[in-house]
Amino acid sequence: MRIYSGIQPTGCITIGNYIGAVKNWLELQEENECLFAIANQHAMTVRQVPQELRERTYSFFAQFLACGLDPEKSILYVQSNVPQHSELAWILSCTTYIGELERMTQFKDKSRKNEDNINAGLLTYPVLMAADILLFKTDLVPVGKDQKQHLELTRDLAIRFNNRYGDTFVVPEPYIPKQGAKITSLQNPLEKMSKSDKDQNATVSIIDSADVIMKKFKRAVTDSENRIAFSEEKPGISNLLTIYSAFSGESIESAERRFEGKGYGDFKIAVGETVADALSPVREKYAAYMADKAELERIMKEGAEKASRIASRTIAKVKKKIGFVSD
Ligand code: AMP
Ligand code: TRP
Repeated sequence: MRIYSGIQPTGCITIGNYIGAVKNWLELQEENECLFAIANQHAMTVRQVPQELRERTYSFFAQFLACGLDPEKSILYVQSNVPQHSELAWILSCTTYIGELERMTQFKDKSRKNEDNINAGLLTYPVLMAADILLFKTDLVPVGKDQKQHLELTRDLAIRFNNRYGDTFVVPEPYIPKQGAKITSLQNPLEKMSKSDKDQNATVSIIDSADVIMKKFKRAVTDSENRIAFSEEKPGISNLLTIYSAFSGESIESAERRFEGKGYGDFKIAVGETVADALSPVREKYAAYMADKAELERIMKEGAEKASRIASRTIAKVKKKIGFVSD
């Protein structure tokens, strides 16, 4: 199967991104043809400082590699290095209705948060995302729950285009993990853990030091009951159990049994240690990749070339269908 996913180079890659997305990518790359992109064109919908955007693109790419995404198995690249994304996005935007875009939760949410910068890109963001996916005849898109609505729009656009112009695009399926599809903030367990959260204690980055990770888990907000049990009414401890299970491989039920009689304090230390241990090799590899920018650039370039080769075939087909003269 062909798999596609992407991540915006904003903030830092959190354990939410890791559990909800990257961890599944690692499994999928073993048996499938995968493409994973740093979606820097998507990141532009919110104001960026150019030098920081560039640095973060390198950093995110190094984090991909440090997590175990393997350029021998998957195509890893930076979105803006493959111009076909923008080309297809324009074409698809002409089969998308403004009403469909205005309904998107992320658009409404980001408009509220960036009142002084409700740019057209914020509205057409899902069209670019559809282009990312449809360029590569993608079968499956592994994402967290927050992207489900964008995936549904992608499917609608593919079907609409196919009906209007004849069979062109593969209609992709979302792939959303059952457990961990929404890791929540350590400071407000009712809100998703977000890369761009300003409260440092709310998120854990995959390259945080062991000390910082321990501190953040010790400060994690829970309720007052002090019993290690998963339930909808207790989002704080349930979130910690989900994180623990994702990094230890132990099921939630088994962890509940093992920590029976223990308090939140003990459990927070156990979660912190488990996460810090699991991420320690990621941190080390990350530092090594960041020390060799030339190698990072080589891998980026190779990925972009491979992606571009596939994308240009789709573009050629699309242009023919819609009546553009051949170039
Ligand atoms: P983003 O941080 O919006 O660039 O998202 C990158 C990927 O991580 C997408 O597949 C998201 O659905 C996923 N993701 C982001 N935040 C979380 C979270 N708190 N829990 C689970 N998955 C997440
Ligand atoms: N919009 C996604 C997010 O914010 C990132 C993304 C961009 C993406 N292009 C994609 C995800 C294509 C899946 C497929 O999380």
